Amino acid sequence: MLGRINHVAIAVTDLNRATATYRDTLGARVSAPQALPEHGVTTVFVELPNTKIELLEPLGEQSPITRFLEKNQDGGIHHICYEVENINDAVKKLEAEGARVLGQPKTGAHGKPVIFLHPKDFCGTLIELEQV
Ligand code: CO
Repeated sequence: MLGRINHVAIAVTDLNRATATYRDTLGARVSAPQALPEHGVTTVFVELPNTKIELLEPLGEQSPITRFLEKNQDGGIHHICYEVENINDAVKKLEAEGARVLGQPKTGAHGKPVIFLHPKDFCGTLIELEQV
């Protein structure tokens, strides 16, 4: 079911500073910031030769990463995004396996359907699936 790693996401409290760290200190190519109100985050993508790093900053009062940043004040790895061919087939299979799928597929940062899976069912790691 799983394809390539699409990105690893890092939650940060200061997106400008995190972007500068990746661009200037680490010498990586970075995207412009993109606000995703539906997901409660603003994102910047760090473009690497084999994958991407997604820098996430909270957007709005109901951001799903606010609590994470309260517990991880320096920021930290928040989720891993794996590619799947068909998100609805993936959800059906996971639900049949008894895994907790969080909500319904939404359009993600790349304009493609994404869904999140409960970390308690996946080795303590929040998983995002993205249909490619
Ligand atoms: Co993501």
